[in-house]
Amino acid sequence: MNSKFELIYEGKAKKVFAHEDSDKVIIEFKDDATAFNALKKAKFEGKGELNCLISSKIFEFLIKNKIPTHYLGLQNNNSMIAQKIKIIPLEVVLRNTAYGSLCKQTLIKPGSVLESPLIDFYLKNDDLNDPLITKDRINLLKIINNEELEFISEMTLKINKLLKTFFFNIKLNLVDFKLEFGRNIKGEIVLGDEISPDNCRLWDLSQKNGTIVSLDKDRFRNDLGGFIEAYSEISKRINNFI
Ligand code: TMP
Ligand code: ASP
Repeated sequence: MNSKFELIYEGKAKKVFAHEDSDKVIIEFKDDATAFNALKKAKFEGKGELNCLISSKIFEFLIKNKIPTHYLGLQNNNSMIAQKIKIIPLEVVLRNTAYGSLCKQTLIKPGSVLESPLIDFYLKNDDLNDPLITKDRINLLKIINNEELEFISEMTLKINKLLKTFFFNIKLNLVDFKLEFGRNIKGEIVLGDEISPDNCRLWDLSQKNGTIVSLDKDRFRNDLGGFIEAYSEISKRINNFI
């Protein structure tokens, strides 16, 4: 669609195009879904639009609550305008409830509520399969300094507080999520990427019997079916609430 704009970068789920203003970009959300570092791939018609609209609503909510983000507005239903940022090569995962890789790598029982939120850092590098990385290794690689790491961790905790309430209000349990940060042209660190069921685990709280009902990318990762239906349900609940 954005053929008049230059493609700057193509990732697994999004394309980034140049904007006529050099400090902005256009981010187009694709219908592709990938898991396990793209070992598993599929296309779901409408996914790009759903993730773009869900992300835009969440960014607007975070901005209202004084979180600095790259989001500037919607270009159309599957593209957003954002500040041009240089992504810091870290995937910042915050976990409220143990699930996924945390349970595979430890003996924590899936579904255990953590006493306090756990932040895990991963090196953003597909060739290395995004390995878990320690603070000392982040220092060693000079990815960011201690002060910036502290700033990012504090911001992630604040975002968690805000999002936990946001999702609780629409009967969703925010189990965990992954954030990416970047530096804008002024050198400020802002939240980037997207916030959608692709990078959050969201469990349906309207189920009374205590069974886990995932309304997120686990439906694709674990072949649960009803993928687009789950994303549509999240979008519908957000729109009905706002
Ligand atoms: P994990 O349990 O597989 O480590 O995932 C933790 C959270 O991070 C979960 O909400 C899914 C999200 N995530 C991504 O957004 N991208 C990734 O590449 C991975 C592995 C997880
Ligand atoms: N984001 C990763 C991929 O695209 C893995 C995941 O989300 O499970 O393959």
